[in-house]
Amino acid sequence: MEIVIASKNRHKIEEISEKLKTLGIESLSLLDFEVTEAPETGSTFLENVYQKSSFYAERLNMPVLSDDSGLVVDALGGLPGVHSSRFAGEGATDEENLKKLVELLKHKGLFESPASFVCFMMVTFPDGKGFWSKGVLKGKVVTEPKGNEGFGYDPIFIPEGDNRTLAEYSMIEKNRISHRGKALEKIVNLLKEKLK
Ligand code: IMP
Repeated sequence: MEIVIASKNRHKIEEISEKLKTLGIESLSLLDFEVTEAPETGSTFLENVYQKSSFYAERLNMPVLSDDSGLVVDALGGLPGVHSSRFAGEGATDEENLKKLVELLKHKGLFESPASFVCFMMVTFPDGKGFWSKGVLKGKVVTEPKGNEGFGYDPIFIPEGDNRTLAEYSMIEKNRISHRGKALEKIVNLLKEKLK
């Protein structure tokens, strides 16, 4: 079986394709095709993965794996959520998004808030059928960034039971506990069942 990973992010493609290889599944990605970009206009992560997976599975006539992830902050009513990558505006950098979040927390007189990283993954087949998985990493966000590893909101996110930020984890250590790692593990198990 071949699956198209609906991403152009080389790091993400590598992480997912390594895992699929263990099932004997070969991966392609959006870097291998000339195809218009899928809409991503959902108000939930699940709507977004559904939009992406079904759009590309239909156009490419192949099974497609898509993912959507973000940070959900309790004190901000779930924001930035599906807006995580463009919280400070279209084309905003990771630093700008992180700064906006810290400012909003401080504006509320808070130095921290419970928060979770969430990842949804979906595999859709050309006939429109498929399945999805969800991975969550619970913790808290703080207003004092620390660490140089990772990306996005990692410098202000402290996983439950630790006092280091995710930006102080090595990549291997982060992949072991991350929302993306958990969602990937589950979707791979669902694929395994399907291949039986
Ligand atoms: P994507 O859906 O994987 O492209 O992620 C959307 C946005 O969520 C990213 O641009 C980041 O701002 C944020 N995000 C998702 N996963 C992580 C993570 O593991 N660390 C830090 N930020 C993340």
